[in-house]
Amino acid sequence: MTPINRDKLLTQHEREGDSLLAILHDLQNASPEHYLSDDDLRAAADYLKLPYSFVHGVATFYTMYSLKPRGRNLIRVCQSPPCHLLGSSTISRELIGLLGIGFGETTPDKLFTLEMTSCLGVCGVAPAMMVNDRVYGNLTKERLVEVIKDLRRAT
Ligand code: FES
Repeated sequence: MTPINRDKLLTQHEREGDSLLAILHDLQNASPEHYLSDDDLRAAADYLKLPYSFVHGVATFYTMYSLKPRGRNLIRVCQSPPCHLLGSSTISRELIGLLGIGFGETTPDKLFTLEMTSCLGVCGVAPAMMVNDRVYGNLTKERLVEVIKDLRRAT
C-alpha cells in the first residue's frame, strides 16, 4: 500500500485507541496479500500515538491478523461443530488435495492460502468456507473443484 493510501485510510478513523482494531482490520483488508506489514503497524501506532510494541502485540494476539503475506485468495474453512458434523473434515481434505498445501500454508504461486476459522454465521448452509469476503455454503467435493477452478481463472 502506498503511504498516501495508508494515510487516507487512517484518517477515516477517530484518532483514539478504540479505533485500533478497526484500523488494523482495514489496513489488512487493503493489502492484496492479506497481511499487516511493519509499515502498517508503524503507521497505526503513529496515527494513534501508541507505542509500536503495543500495536504489534495486539496484531499478534488476534488470529484474524497476519504479519506475513498470504495468498491472493484467502480460504477459511469453518471448523465449528455444525460444519464439522456436516463434513468440514472431508472439505478440508479435498482442499488440501486440490491445492497441494496444508492449513496455514500458501501455494508457491501465491494464489491461495488455507486457514481454519470458527463459525462464519451461516450454519444453515454448513459445511461452509469463506474466500476473501465471499461465503460459500453447502459445500461438496464437486462444488469445491468448481470454486477453485473459477478462482484460478479469475486471477
Ligand atoms: S458452524 Fe460453520 S458456519 Fe456456523
